[in-house]
Amino acid sequence: MRGRPQGNWGALAPLCLLLFLFFLLTLGTSYKPVVVVHGLFDSPSEFSHLLLFINQSHPGTNVTVVDLFDHSQSLKPLWVQVEGFRCAISPIMQNAADGVHLICYSQGGLICRALLSTMPDHNVDTFISLSAPQMGQYGDTQYLRWLFPKYVKSNLYRFCYTRLGQDVSICNYWNDPHHRDLYLNSSNFLALLNSERVNPNATAWKRNLVRIQKLVLVGGPDDGVITPWQSSLFAFYNLNETVMDMEQQLVYLQDSFGLKTLDARGAIARCQVAGVPHTAWHSNRTVYETCLAPWLS
Ligand SMILES: *[C@@H]1O[C@H](CO)[C@@H](O)[C@H](O)[C@H]1NC(C)=O
Ligand SMILES: *[C@@H]1O[C@H](CO)[C@@H](O)[C@H](O)[C@H]1NC(C)=O
Ligand SMILES: *[C@@H]1O[C@H](CO)[C@@H](O)[C@H](O)[C@H]1NC(C)=O
Ligand SMILES: *[C@@H]1O[C@H](CO)[C@@H](O)[C@H](O)[C@H]1NC(C)=O
Ligand SMILES: *[C@@H]1O[C@H](CO)[C@@H](O)[C@H](O)[C@H]1NC(C)=O
Ligand SMILES: *[C@@H]1O[C@H](CO)[C@@H](O)[C@H](O)[C@H]1NC(C)=O
Repeated sequence: MRGRPQGNWGALAPLCLLLFLFFLLTLGTSYKPVVVVHGLFDSPSEFSHLLLFINQSHPGTNVTVVDLFDHSQSLKPLWVQVEGFRCAISPIMQNAADGVHLICYSQGGLICRALLSTMPDHNVDTFISLSAPQMGQYGDTQYLRWLFPKYVKSNLYRFCYTRLGQDVSICNYWNDPHHRDLYLNSSNFLALLNSERVNPNATAWKRNLVRIQKLVLVGGPDDGVITPWQSSLFAFYNLNETVMDMEQQLVYLQDSFGLKTLDARGAIARCQVAGVPHTAWHSNRTVYETCLAPWLS
């Protein structure tokens, strides 16, 4: 008589333990949702390799490649695009109690940084900036020659640093080291985002950005589009077009938008890979495995 209930418990205990272990296991393997933001002249269709890689290494991850401002629409002013992406990404964040990861490619890297700086309630864990001109662009590329055939890099400032120019996304991050006064006066995106020009929201934007856990900067010397390629690692030209490291940038030294705060916390990882042309960053498996996968937990 006394043995029977004991016997039942004895049989149930291992089952409970198994259920408990299974519960722990499923908790441990649920990855945070990933949001992908494309670059200039791109669309979500370019990211099929990336989707495959993530599905293979992190099965079950909910990945959204935001389908907005595709192709020539990506030339729209960046603040307009930031608004659009905010509307699309906010609900995804609200659905993700443990937060989300961002993978933002090329021009998309600047859109994401602006999104993070202007969203007090974002829950981004890791922000992966995939070959993005974070400190701006100053170089002739095939895109530029096609868009502005009458200009070369040394005189594009004449167009970019005007009100009309600032209506074109590329001009929003055109950073001509020889016309810094005009850049500061006219760049209503990058110079403002960096708080290089007077920004009444500088303190709030900095507080918002540094809420991320990790900033992963990916770039490399064979990029061919981002100029200087080190802009992807927050380095940039000085007055004589020598590339100065992130740590030597005024915005870093003055911690004007939170870069130094993130670095002091050990929150910045730099992943430099040679041999990758600009259009291959999201489709190269080596890049994925070394620079992206380790952060998608
Ligand atoms: C992920 O991989 C599994 C197994 O190979 C496949 O059934 C599924 O359709 C894939 N999902 C996506 C979104 O590619
Ligand atoms: C993936 O995330 C989106 C956006 O939060 C959501 O609408 C969708 O239901 C999710 N899909 C799955 C399979 O969980
Ligand atoms: C600064 O920009 C404003 C508007 O874009 C323009 O009217 C003004 O002339 C510029 N000032 C200088 C010194 O370039
Ligand atoms: C910037 O500050 C102004 C005035 O304080 C405020 O009205 C505006 O909403 C702020 N903008 C952002 C994006 O934080
Ligand atoms: C360019 O600037 C760097 C750093 O300030 C300096 O070391 C170098 O001598 C300069 N080069 C020329 C040619 O002026
Ligand atoms: C990916 O990048 C690596 C590193 O540069 C390179 O060795 C490899 O050939 C690339 N893979 C493809 C398929 O291009």
